Amino acid sequence: MQWCKYLKVILVLLCATIFTLTIYKVPLGHFKVLVNNSVVERLFHEEPCACMERCLAASDDKWFAEHFRKDVPPVLSLNNSVLPDHIFNWWQSLQSTKSKANYSQVIKELFSVIPEEEWYRDAGPSRCRTCAVVGNSGNLLGSHYGPVIDQHDFVFRMNKATVQGYEKDVGSRTTHRVMYPESATHLDNNTHLVLLPFKTIDIQWITSALTDGSIKRTRFKVIDKLQANKDKVMVMHPAFMHYVHNTWLHIKSQRSYPSTGFLVLIYALHICDEVNVFGFGANDKGTWHHYFEKTPKSLKRTGRHSGGIELQTLLELHERRLIHLYTGW
Ligand code: C5P
Repeated sequence: MQWCKYLKVILVLLCATIFTLTIYKVPLGHFKVLVNNSVVERLFHEEPCACMERCLAASDDKWFAEHFRKDVPPVLSLNNSVLPDHIFNWWQSLQSTKSKANYSQVIKELFSVIPEEEWYRDAGPSRCRTCAVVGNSGNLLGSHYGPVIDQHDFVFRMNKATVQGYEKDVGSRTTHRVMYPESATHLDNNTHLVLLPFKTIDIQWITSALTDGSIKRTRFKVIDKLQANKDKVMVMHPAFMHYVHNTWLHIKSQRSYPSTGFLVLIYALHICDEVNVFGFGANDKGTWHHYFEKTPKSLKRTGRHSGGIELQTLLELHERRLIHLYTGW
C-alpha cells in the first residue's frame, strides 16, 4: 500500500536523524537552530527556548510565576518611558538632588544620543541564551570559574569590577557592564553599557558623558566624558527597578532600593533563557568584600539595600533550579 511505503520512509529518516544526532552528540538546542524556519521548527513551536539545561520561560514553578512579570520592560525606550505617578514618586525619592529637570525632555534628549532600539525581542523556540551574572564578591578568588564564566553568551559585570589580573577566577569577557554615574568606568567598543538610573540627573549624565561632558557632578564628582560605544548603551527602566523592589523583594520602605547585583540578576531572568550566578555573598570565612581589593576591608552588608531578603531570594531561585548559584567554595 502506498501510505505504508511513506510511513516506512518517514521512519527510516527519523531513525537516521536520531542516529546522526547521537553519534555526533549534537545538542538538541543546536539542532533546533539548524532547522530554524523549517517544517521541523514548526513541530517544535511549543518549546519556549532551545536550552538543554534550563529554560526560564518554560518554568512551571508557582513561586516563580508569582514573582516574574513578563510584561514589565527591562529597558527604557522612547515609547515606554511614561511612568505612572506612584512609580515616578518612588523613583524620585531614591536619591535626592537639586536638579529640577523635566523628565520627558530628559528622555527626548537621551534618545537623540543613544539608539531607540527595542532590545531583546528575540525570545523563542530556537534561542538558547545563556547568561553569567558576575557580582563583585571576594568569594571568586581562587574559584577558577574564569573558563566557565567565559562560555556564556552574555557576561554581565558590575560597577568598577576589574578583570585584568583576575581572569582565572572571573573570566575575561564582558558583554554588559551595569553601572550608575558614581560607579562608572570606561568601556571598550564591544561592551554594552547598562545604566542604572537612580535619579533624573543620572539620565542627563549619560547623555552628557557621551557628548559634551557638561555634567561633572551628580551626587558626587563623576567621570564627565565616558569612553563607551553609544550605539550599545541602554538604560534600565525605572518601572523595572520599582518592580524588582516591590514584587521580588516586597519592600515597603520608601527610600530603600535593590542592590546593583540584585537588579542585574532579575534583569538577566527577563532577557536570558538560562542564568548562572557568580560572585555573590560572603566568602568561606564570612567576609563580605570585593575580589579586586588588594587589602580587603569587610563591606557593610546592606547599606540602603535589603541584603537579607536579596540573599534569601537568590537562594530560593537556586533551590528551585531556576538559576545556578556558584558560591566559590
Ligand atoms: O559592591 P558592588 O555594588 O560594586 O558589587 C556589585 C554587586 O555584587 C553587589 O550589588 C552585590 O549584589 C554583589 N556583591 C556580593 N557580595 C560581595 C560584594 C558584592 O554579593 N561581597
